[in-house]
Amino acid sequence: MPPGTSIAPTRRDLLEGAAVTALGLAVAAPAAVGPAEARPLPGEAAIKLTVNGVERTLAVDPRVTLLDALRERLALTGSKKGCDHGQCGACTVMVGGRRINSCLTLAVMHEGDEITTIEGLAEGDELHPMQAAFLAHDGFQCGYCTPGQICSSVAMLAEAKAGWPSHVTADLAGAVELTDAEIRERMSGNLCRCAAYPNIVAAIRDASAGGAT
Ligand code: FES
Ligand code: FES
Repeated sequence: MPPGTSIAPTRRDLLEGAAVTALGLAVAAPAAVGPAEARPLPGEAAIKLTVNGVERTLAVDPRVTLLDALRERLALTGSKKGCDHGQCGACTVMVGGRRINSCLTLAVMHEGDEITTIEGLAEGDELHPMQAAFLAHDGFQCGYCTPGQICSSVAMLAEAKAGWPSHVTADLAGAVELTDAEIRERMSGNLCRCAAYPNIVAAIRDASAGGAT
């Protein structure tokens, strides 16, 4: 190595790595059938899930949460475990288009369900508009909460579009206007310890204006 050169990662390398991880771009579902998809052992249950458009057959202990099944059996580590108690939203995924805390539900309860995780939002190299908006607005710092924030906000826009009111909706009869107060209320189940909230709200506001769902 020539004198003066270094193999240490630069700040830019670290920031780019954090963005890729936060947006769930680095981890793709393994195409091959792994050991977790083997025949069930005594006490395990065989379940079929469609995850990010791919049908997966798993043998799981009935006590395994959906979050652990996704992370530890399917290597989809974009969904994060923050509290494991339904309090932080880091584990948010969509089941049939609706957002849920995957730490609060058992994998065996999702036989036949269609599950979308952060890894399933981009189309190849093309980011989902919500991912692009988070990137454009710096809607994250450490990125740990970001996959949950993005999955939650994608489902939240669909809820608002369908006219579901929130605690702060003034006009229960009309179309929902996604004000900053509405966005904050509807995203209140997703905590960010880095307090990137202003940028998260700005990203969602922009994605909403652009028609992202
Ligand atoms: Fe599921 Fe915190 S890890 S809500
Ligand atoms: Fe660090 Fe939200 S970006 S917890």
